[in-house]
Amino acid sequence: MTQCWVVDLGCGSGLKTRVIVEAIAASMPTTLFAIDISAAALRQCAFTMSDLTAVKVTSFEGSYLPGLEALRDSRQNDAPLLALFLGSSISQFAVHEIEPFLGQVRALMRPGDAILIGADGIRSLAEMIAQYNDVLGIEAAFDKNALNVVNRTLGGNFDIAALAARAGFVFQAEWRDAKTGFADTLLYCPANNGTTDAHK
Ligand SMILES: C[S@@+](CC[C@H](N)C(=O)[O-])C[C@H]1O[C@@H](n2cnc3c(N)ncnc32)[C@H](O)[C@@H]1O
Repeated sequence: MTQCWVVDLGCGSGLKTRVIVEAIAASMPTTLFAIDISAAALRQCAFTMSDLTAVKVTSFEGSYLPGLEALRDSRQNDAPLLALFLGSSISQFAVHEIEPFLGQVRALMRPGDAILIGADGIRSLAEMIAQYNDVLGIEAAFDKNALNVVNRTLGGNFDIAALAARAGFVFQAEWRDAKTGFADTLLYCPANNGTTDAHK
């Protein structure tokens, strides 16, 4: 094996991916094909990789499967592919959607390719709420960015500057973990009085 492709399905900042591609690139030339619907995430990921001189980074702004199709069409050699699906992104799918989705991913890969799926274990409600109400506001920024995308691309009219985020959880949500029933829900409330008036 003389070289390797890595495709990151929803790369985000690429911090976890960096650990993996850096290790692979120590033994062979590596091309990272970073897929994300967020242009900001792709920029951040490229920055995260910027000092890894043995890693060539290509970005695809769009959804997982169109990204994988583009990669399939541009793979001109028989170097193997490692697909990364990290950060519990798989939990964004409804349970009945997961198997068909992974089947579609597999159909775009070749024999000898591999996929690494990262998912969270089950945590207590207190831990979950603390994580989603993180002090640095990373989760809130992430969700506000999603609302920005809705405004920009779908004609939404969220007044994002006027919203404060507070994490909450919906129980017995059928589309989440069958044992705990957790589904994360970010409650948005006006920043001035803290009253919740909308949720996603
Ligand atoms: C939970 S974060 C995980 C980020 C990173 N993989 C990690 O482990 O830190 C999910 C990422 O997937 C992206 N994403 C969500 N839905 C997507 C889709 N349908 N196609 C491509 N990217 C998507 C989001 O923009 C976000 O950067």
